[in-house]
Amino acid sequence: MTVVTRKADHLRAAAGADVGHDGGNGLEGLRLSHRALPERDLADVTLETDLLGARLGAPLLVSAMTGGTPAAEVLNARLARAATEHRLGLVLGSGRALLEDREQLRTYRSDDRPPLLLANLGAAQIRGPHADRAERLVELLDADGLTIHLNAIQEAVQPEGEPEFAGVVDAIAAIVARLAPLPVVVKEVGFGMDPEDVTLLAQAGVAAVDVAGAGGTNWALVEGRRDHRVQPLAAAFAAWGVPTAEALQGAIAAAPGLPIIASGGLRDGVDVAKTLALGACASGLARTFLLAAQADDASETAAVLICQLRVAVWASGAASASRLDRSHLRERARPRDYLPRLGGPE
Ligand SMILES: Cc1cc2nc3c(=O)[nH]c(=O)nc-3n(C[C@H](O)[C@H](O)[C@H](O)COP(=O)(O)O)c2cc1C
Repeated sequence: MTVVTRKADHLRAAAGADVGHDGGNGLEGLRLSHRALPERDLADVTLETDLLGARLGAPLLVSAMTGGTPAAEVLNARLARAATEHRLGLVLGSGRALLEDREQLRTYRSDDRPPLLLANLGAAQIRGPHADRAERLVELLDADGLTIHLNAIQEAVQPEGEPEFAGVVDAIAAIVARLAPLPVVVKEVGFGMDPEDVTLLAQAGVAAVDVAGAGGTNWALVEGRRDHRVQPLAAAFAAWGVPTAEALQGAIAAAPGLPIIASGGLRDGVDVAKTLALGACASGLARTFLLAAQADDASETAAVLICQLRVAVWASGAASASRLDRSHLRERARPRDYLPRLGGPE
């Protein structure tokens, strides 16, 4: 099976039913403070954010998805239009197909240029002395930097996968050195990360980490949908991984000062606001934007997300997205926390 056919299958399977994680993103137990008296006008709330050297209209990224298939050309053009119109970051899908065939460039890039455009490669493609590949990809795409995805479970479940991860940290450090001063961001694909991983990545010199936690698209289940032979293996990983909220907290504690991006199962601007309050520097969404781009309303979806985020920041009492912090978070109370014990003898 070629990379191109596999990418096309992934688009179909990821947009289909039953590929969501069996478990939440960890944000369900949290709510934002609700200020009945926000004491400022909604229009005065600012969302502008500096991320990896770019000024964004809001701390939002379209997470890495596609490139290298005819369908990707249309989807990436729509995503680039939305990201450009709303001044958001856009992470392109894996550039492996482009490195193999330059003719694929048009399936990644259109004339629209978002303020932050990041290329993407997988751990399996960077092992060994391949820092030059990463450099070539960034040049071909005229990108502002590179994201590297860590997808151990997917590689292990995929029939043609390459679950060879020995030496990946060294390869990341070599790419960081090769691309400097351009930023290298390392991300998961929806299973999150352990704090120990984040420590290793910080030592390797990455510019930011995207925890891409559990709670949204589950790549074991996507592979199971693509090929029923791997379903029995994939099914055991339906609830695997670190929920996004937990992965985010762990990453911030493991690497104080390192920008941490939150993604994985974020549903709306309220979820985004919660991750910012937990300490994320920006937040990403993939499947939501995939469905929007397929329906040709990526720009409208981005506008709604931004509006939801603005209202959430305002009503929680913060002046701007960058001022959201833990003081704006509340644990959801359960009735047994505030009702006297019912039923039992006093
Ligand atoms: C159709 C599709 C293709 C994806 N391809 C890539 C990819 O090429 N590289 C990558 O780093 N992540 C890829 N991802 C993973 C996403 O970037 C993201 O980490 C993951 O889907 C979790 O986010 P979500 O729950 O918002 O979908 C892909 C996701 C989708 C839905």
